[in-house]
Amino acid sequence: MLNFNKKHNILFLLSGSIAAFKACALISELAQDGHQIQVACTKNTFNFIGEATLEGLSQKPVISSTFTSGHMMEHIHLARWASMVIFCPATANSINKLAAGIADDIVGNLILAKESHIPLYIVPAMNKEMYLNPITQKSLEHLTHLGHNVLKTQAGHQACGEVGLGRMLEPSEIKKLVFEDQNTETDFDYLDDETIKYDKPAPPNHKTRKKVLITAGGTKESIDQVRFITNFSSGNTAKILAEKLERNDYDVVYLHATDAKKPKNAHLDQFTGFNELYEKIEHYLSTYKFDYIIHAAAVSDYSPTEIKVDNITTSLPLTKKINSGSELTIKLKQNIKIVNKSKELSRNKDITVVAFKLTNSDNSSDIKNALQKIASSKINTIDYIVHNNLPEITDNKLPHVIYRVGDENLDLIAQGQTKADMADNLINCLSHGSELASTSKILIKDLNTNTNTNTNTNITANKNKFEIKKTFQINT
Ligand SMILES: Cc1cc2nc3c(=O)[nH]c(=O)nc-3n(C[C@H](O)[C@H](O)[C@H](O)COP(=O)(O)O)c2cc1C
Repeated sequence: MLNFNKKHNILFLLSGSIAAFKACALISELAQDGHQIQVACTKNTFNFIGEATLEGLSQKPVISSTFTSGHMMEHIHLARWASMVIFCPATANSINKLAAGIADDIVGNLILAKESHIPLYIVPAMNKEMYLNPITQKSLEHLTHLGHNVLKTQAGHQACGEVGLGRMLEPSEIKKLVFEDQNTETDFDYLDDETIKYDKPAPPNHKTRKKVLITAGGTKESIDQVRFITNFSSGNTAKILAEKLERNDYDVVYLHATDAKKPKNAHLDQFTGFNELYEKIEHYLSTYKFDYIIHAAAVSDYSPTEIKVDNITTSLPLTKKINSGSELTIKLKQNIKIVNKSKELSRNKDITVVAFKLTNSDNSSDIKNALQKIASSKINTIDYIVHNNLPEITDNKLPHVIYRVGDENLDLIAQGQTKADMADNLINCLSHGSELASTSKILIKDLNTNTNTNTNTNITANKNKFEIKKTFQINT
């Protein structure tokens, strides 16, 4: 149910489109619903509708210039007064200017001066070629990524006589979309959690975008005040993945080691050791409804529990520095596999879980056995395994194979050579995983089967766009 009880101060912006007459119907409805409306528009708007109509409907003088004597600061004052901004109709010209941050009219000034938490709804209206023009599409994409709500257009007859996308939504549909967004309970409330560092405002339509939790970098297991056990993980793969996911309209929470590489736009949170990583994963998965978790962090299999220094045993971690020169014995305890707990911890039991498996072998039978072993212990707990083999990894190359974990088989569904390929492949798996054809299989359960392996360059055409040149095929 829509809640029309909450009354807003709506800054209603218009630009020079033939759809301006439809915006008048929307202004009229919003005013009748009891909202305060202040209209501001580009000068070109008056080529399509009259100032008297807009003033009559909103019952306030219309602002169409940045420089009006006695109202010089309106471009700031109105931006502060508003509790929401609706830009309808938004022309191609104004959208492209907006994306470039141009403020040469009152509309551009007001939008630039708007505080980031005040929602802006951009309602495009234009000819289909203007809409589909790559410049306009890029601008709309950019505005979306900046956190604005860009409403879709509808296909249909246009004023110019052509038929296609770009036609403005009907006033009732716009109203529904705007107020649904204002009133729907979010299950991913970015603003109530202090542990998330907000590098950008909550993204638009964040209730409908798929939500991904990615872990990145290496854990640090403290021994004393200054020493710890860690690994070489840089977080670089996770960073590239997070950035591509963001560009593909996923909402990303990036849980990273303190010194891991960070993406530009994700919501960031950090961890140090295994315990903190576990607690934060548990917090996110149980509090929010994530669609995917990608375990890209290198998590220590062991944590130090005790230290024996000159025959005196103490529990770890120590809060002071151990003196150099002493002989040390450190006892390590095995950690649980967080990846296996993801579904159990998750509020969304249908969450898709992606695990990484790094092997270190030149022998394909050993690799196959390692994959079978991990898969047999993880049926029903993980959905995809991204496999890398250490001897094949170089500074520039990350050869990888992605398997879908089935009930009986590991299905090879994608592979590639670089980190960027890996990110593309994985995103494709997340979006279309169940539809992707498998190019070869590994039987999970039969660990004792004799195997022979070969390299096969003849791969069936795959509906995704990956360039599959060579498949490492394992016959069982
Ligand atoms: C009859 C007519 C209809 C137009 N309709 C649109 C439209 O729906 N969308 C659009 O982007 N531009 C449309 N234009 C072109 C814009 O009015 C023009 O690009 C103008 O510079 C926009 O200025 P503004 O963005 O400052 O308001 C139309 C032009 C004419 C003459």
